[in-house]
Amino acid sequence: MRLSCQRRPPRAHSLAAALAAALIVASASAAAETDPETDPESGFVIAEGWETVKGNCTVCHSAKLVTQNSGSRAHWADLIVWMQETQGLWQFNPEMEATILDYLATHYGPRTDARRQNLPKRLMPPTPNSADEQGGTASDST
Ligand code: HEC
Repeated sequence: MRLSCQRRPPRAHSLAAALAAALIVASASAAAETDPETDPESGFVIAEGWETVKGNCTVCHSAKLVTQNSGSRAHWADLIVWMQETQGLWQFNPEMEATILDYLATHYGPRTDARRQNLPKRLMPPTPNSADEQGGTASDST
């Protein structure tokens, strides 16, 4: 009669499982480090100044309009002036404007993989509708 002494140590399986779990946890946190954390509500990258930007830049339009744009600090500064002059955007004190511009230029800076930037609205030709307002066609006046 043989003694059954061939049982494997019960630990082997659970050790392998623990190692696998540790690897999964490690790779998940590595992924989290490369993607910047974003605000689930607005999509803004969470970094210094984001709450100021969210508070001021989502009042009239969606945050997407902001996050889908990109450009240099000067581009953002131009855009803010354009909204202040034509769209009723309020003035910012210098510190607040610096906070906003630093944030935008850092997290929504010029992209090298994109097409050239859109022309600012003020450099665009008039639309057909605004041409209409300047007078009808010649045949109207007969
Ligand atoms: C007082 C209202 C108002 C506020 C506040 C406002 N905007 Fe705008 N913004 C507008 C309007 C109006 C448009 C034109 C929307 C359109 O074309 O449909 C616009 C357009 C834009 C565009 C698109 C420009 C383009 O080239 O099409 C961007 C980017 C933008 N805003 C960024 C911002 C940022 C950044 C802030 C915060 C500093 C901000 N907006 C705050 C009114 C506002």
